[in-house]
Amino acid sequence: MLFSGISILYLLLAGVLYLATRLALLKRHNAREAAVRGCLPPPSPPDRGLWGIKSLRASLKATKDGWGPIWMHQTFNSIGKGVHTMRAQVLDYELLITRDAENIKAMFNTQSADFDIGPHRERTFKSLLGLGVMTNRGVDWKHSRELIRPQFARDNIANLAMFETHVQSLVKRLRVDAGEWTAKVDLQPLFQNLTLDTSTEFLYGHSASTQDPEQRARLPTLEGRKAPDLSNFGHHLDEAKHVLDRQGALAKYSWLVRDGTYSTHRQAVHDFVDYFVHMVLSQTEQDSKMETSDIMRDKVVLLRELMKATRDPLTLRNETLNVLHASRDTTAALIGWMFYFFARREDVFTKAREEVSERFAGKEAGELTSSDLWSLSYLPLVVNETIRFVGIVPMNERAAVRDTTLPRGGGPDGRFSVFVPKGAQVLIPTYSLQHREDLWGADVEEYKPERWESRKSGWDFVPFGGGARQCIGRELHFFDPLDPPIH
Ligand code: HEM
Ligand SMILES: *[C@@H]1O[C@H](CO)[C@@H](O)[C@H](O)[C@H]1NC(C)=O
Ligand SMILES: *[C@@H]1O[C@H](CO)[C@@H](O)[C@H](O)[C@H]1NC(C)=O
Ligand SMILES: *[C@@H]1O[C@H](CO)[C@@H](O)[C@H](O)[C@H]1NC(C)=O
Repeated sequence: MLFSGISILYLLLAGVLYLATRLALLKRHNAREAAVRGCLPPPSPPDRGLWGIKSLRASLKATKDGWGPIWMHQTFNSIGKGVHTMRAQVLDYELLITRDAENIKAMFNTQSADFDIGPHRERTFKSLLGLGVMTNRGVDWKHSRELIRPQFARDNIANLAMFETHVQSLVKRLRVDAGEWTAKVDLQPLFQNLTLDTSTEFLYGHSASTQDPEQRARLPTLEGRKAPDLSNFGHHLDEAKHVLDRQGALAKYSWLVRDGTYSTHRQAVHDFVDYFVHMVLSQTEQDSKMETSDIMRDKVVLLRELMKATRDPLTLRNETLNVLHASRDTTAALIGWMFYFFARREDVFTKAREEVSERFAGKEAGELTSSDLWSLSYLPLVVNETIRFVGIVPMNERAAVRDTTLPRGGGPDGRFSVFVPKGAQVLIPTYSLQHREDLWGADVEEYKPERWESRKSGWDFVPFGGGARQCIGRELHFFDPLDPPIH
């Protein structure tokens, strides 16, 4: 007993010594490289605690309590409102955080060869999503992106009608006809189901139909593969992602989070997807002229399109799950927040509603085209202001693939460049960027769609990322009324 107690003590001491030595060496290396490049370090938050542990704990707590993005914004402002780049090293983990548009432009555009997404997106999501466009890096990412991109760049009008069907199901769930539409209702879970229904249909050709189980197709048993229970898919996906979110918050230390139920949820998600992969694989085997034979001919189904390039079941599972992950919660969150503001801002709601009824007057929902969507001018302002105000994806990131620099943020006034050692992670707190008073004006904390009327956006508004790795959902022409395609 005593012996093992002493061993543990020695082990601990050795660990601390190792870390201290490592930190000292790193510091020396970085200082030397920074000096060669004429860089100065950016400031750190005032009260970080030993090795940044206090900051890490505060940030984890804020995340857990649901206000992580605001905590980050306040931390920045507590160093100084003019400070837009900071250093937040935790133990031996070199971390920079920047809300400076020049630095963001460098990472996404001018110096994009020096940066990639950090390894932790893969580490966090691989077990659920597998390797795909969201999680891959380097040439593997390029390959994934090329695989799925053509499906997004098309003007797939048929999907607009598909959306319409599911929106009608949503309206039915609200029981407007039953005269209950004034009752208090929590819209968010309804939107989560809506976007699950639309994403599964877009991805697999079969909707989970969580909103309207009567619409759910009766699925046959396939070669011994039992049809999945579509009503549980959302639950398993949410639970699995919940565990991963908690791990993701810890980045490098994600292994600290363990959850016994995780593997059940993951298995259910994989079974669901694999069923459809095998169904479509066997359909297309039976009939090689799939283009004309398929019953869902005019609907773009990502899975089916991907099969023209690969028939590997794991690639098909992984890539479609990657897109599902990227699209479902983001879209539901955006719609949810838009209604949050509609409910509180009658002026905004009335204006948006009037525009839609005016422009689309006399058209059946099924007849709308994407150019009808482009004709809207007020709603896009509302969309942008909602995204700005809430920050749908409040944090993005990159990591340096070699020793490099960022153009701004070093030194007391931030005018020097900053050394970024290979492997260092750079967080991009989009929420904080979108709440910088110097960029948005004294009314930054006001919800004000009109501010977009006179605003040209650049690298200071990057809610979808930027450069080659920008959100591919933006290329869905019917999805994104923000950026009409150039014909
Ligand atoms: C309001 C809605 C959405 C927001 C705010 C959003 C935002 C983002 C952001 C910030 C990224 C990361 C970019 C980066 O790493 O720099 C991303 C990536 C991605 N998004 Fe979206 N997204 C939305 C909707 C969608 C939709 C509807 C789809 C698909 C139908 C989608 C598909 C993707 C994919 C596949 C990626 C990975 C792209 C890559 O790494 O090459 N997103 N999105
Ligand atoms: C797909 O993801 C699984 C993990 O879920 C992984 O084991 C497999 O290697 C991946 N395969 C491909 C081709 O991406
Ligand atoms: C969402 O869908 C699931 C599965 O069909 C259902 O159990 C749940 O009640 C739905 N949520 C709402 C708020 O309608
Ligand atoms: C909304 O933001 C996007 C950037 O995501 C920008 O390209 C677009 O021009 C903005 N739209 C309006 C109406 O300001």
